[in-house]
Amino acid sequence: MLCKMGVGANSLLIRAVGAIIVLLGARFLYRGYLQRSRVRALKAQGIPILPHSLLFGHLRLLGDWRADNPPDANFYSFHTWLIKNCRKYFPDLDFPPPVVYLDLWPVEMQLALVFDPVAASQFTQTPSLPKLKLSTDFLVPLTSGLDIVSNEGIEWKTWRSRFNPGFSQRNLIAMLPALIEEVSIFASQLESLAGSEGKWGSVFRLDEKTINLTFDIIVRASLGMRLNEQQRAESSPLKIALLDQIRIMNYGANASRALPIGRMPWHNAAARVNNKKIKDLVMPQIQSKLQAESNDSQVKTIVDLAIKYIDKDDPSASREKPNAEFIDKLIANLKAFLFAGHDTTAATICFMAKLLQDNTECMAKVRAEHDAVLGPDPSEAAAVLTQSPHLLYALPGDFTRTAPGIQFNSAGFIDSLPDGRLGHVAIGSRSRTEPQLLAEAQRVHYPSDGHVPEGDPLHPVNNNAWAPFSIGPRNCIGMELALIELRIFAVLTARRFDIGEAWDKWDELQGSKATPNAKIDGERLYSSGDGIVHPKDGMPIHVRLREHSPAV
Ligand code: HEM
Ligand SMILES: *[C@@H]1O[C@H](CO)[C@@H](O)[C@H](O)[C@H]1NC(C)=O
Ligand SMILES: *[C@@H]1O[C@H](CO)[C@@H](O)[C@H](O)[C@H]1NC(C)=O
Ligand SMILES: *[C@@H]1O[C@H](CO)[C@@H](O)[C@H](O)[C@H]1NC(C)=O
Repeated sequence: MLCKMGVGANSLLIRAVGAIIVLLGARFLYRGYLQRSRVRALKAQGIPILPHSLLFGHLRLLGDWRADNPPDANFYSFHTWLIKNCRKYFPDLDFPPPVVYLDLWPVEMQLALVFDPVAASQFTQTPSLPKLKLSTDFLVPLTSGLDIVSNEGIEWKTWRSRFNPGFSQRNLIAMLPALIEEVSIFASQLESLAGSEGKWGSVFRLDEKTINLTFDIIVRASLGMRLNEQQRAESSPLKIALLDQIRIMNYGANASRALPIGRMPWHNAAARVNNKKIKDLVMPQIQSKLQAESNDSQVKTIVDLAIKYIDKDDPSASREKPNAEFIDKLIANLKAFLFAGHDTTAATICFMAKLLQDNTECMAKVRAEHDAVLGPDPSEAAAVLTQSPHLLYALPGDFTRTAPGIQFNSAGFIDSLPDGRLGHVAIGSRSRTEPQLLAEAQRVHYPSDGHVPEGDPLHPVNNNAWAPFSIGPRNCIGMELALIELRIFAVLTARRFDIGEAWDKWDELQGSKATPNAKIDGERLYSSGDGIVHPKDGMPIHVRLREHSPAV
């Protein structure tokens, strides 16, 4: 009897599960059908579409890209790859159309890659379209969507304006001595790693060092805490917890994975543990800021300046009795800053060092400029700059633009197109999949000569193709900070060191694990990694001291 009942219940359960699976399967296929049809509809309107299969969408193209590139190539390199292979997929075009649709379902949501600055400005300025869900989902384990990177509308506006003063040029100039101090530590470490008597030193990964530097800087600038990642034997608990969190975030966003498997319940549990650790580590510092009397003559951190708004949402709140939601949002944003503010800048420093070293003419210009503005003795540069911060802005050539056709993009990745055409717009900033984008897509497709008459809604807002930090209201809040870091780095290293890639030494160290054939465009140094760009293998380099002979 009992036994029979058991079987009956079991078979009912099996049928129920079966029905759910069938329903889920049907929903899955229907979604796929919708995705594919959208792209077909665009094509029917005459918009250039990459070769598209009803079954595979553009997945074959993704396969082509993967086959052509090292397995750890970052998806950001897809853009430049498509430019090079344009004729293969768009037989009538030398350069991809302004907007390229990519239907990667079910591996990824549909993406639109923007290859044209005018089209890009349509997405970020008039108006700024909502951000790609892919990029805001990425931050959820870290911030639960409470940060300005993820927010939209009034919530974004309110908090962005609370943080703007901390990131302003004025405030950063006040912080300059602290920033110079951190980069000086970096420079003295570089000196200790340099070979003696003008010889190359031993090989190490530059990106590890620049990440420690930029992490020290963002924690100090936002919280006033000094972690000394650059000098301590082991990473600080804060850095360990944040890096572990980023590892977990990557599970949901891995463009190179074979199956669309997202984050699992145990990932979410681990994320909660990390979030608690991070909160416990930053809360004492926030507490002490809440308790301290506001002192106008002190250098203000980013958090100091945001705490001033403590009673704006809730008039009963005060420094003694803060509102819990305010504190949660403050911490969520702080975490977003620590995340967005370190490896982007660290990777950019690495690629800048490579570009300067590769472009001898450009490097000579930069060194001469430093001699002229800061005096001929490189060892005095930190002191001169600390005394006269404004000299940072007296360096006439913006070295990020001096070499023709070279641009930094949002992932700290640099594009070099011979004719200076825009080669790459960051997918994070410029690919927006919301329905508006699809509506916009039909308008964006204008004749390839780009001539749009004044008064037309597509008339260019500006022709600024240099947009590594994005343009418009949702541009990078940390742009000024990042540019200052890049400038100080250049000032304190360019004249004192030669920084050379050291792949031979690196391969030797790797032994049988060496990958000497992994190259993009013939370069061993390329953008790798799943999420944020990291220079391949952390950019193995060696360093030698230059003679202190100022250019006359
Ligand atoms: C070289 C370094 C950096 C690059 C290339 C870069 C690039 C960008 C880009 C392209 C965006 C726009 C993203 C989009 O529209 O989806 C952005 C946004 C943002 N960045 Fe950066 N960034 C860098 C450094 C930093 C630093 C140092 C911070 C420090 C906190 C930071 C914090 C942010 C934040 C909070 C946003 C969101 C702003 C908003 O939506 O209001 N970034 N960044
Ligand atoms: C910097 O970071 C790397 C990797 O995160 C670590 O291995 C290294 O020991 C850190 N510290 C120093 C002083 O380089
Ligand atoms: C991303 O996918 C690749 C290939 O499937 C895999 O080797 C890598 O470990 C994945 N990374 C993460 C963080 O899941
Ligand atoms: C404010 O800070 C300055 C510099 O740290 C210090 O000299 C001064 O005593 C402080 N004033 C108050 C009221 O705490």
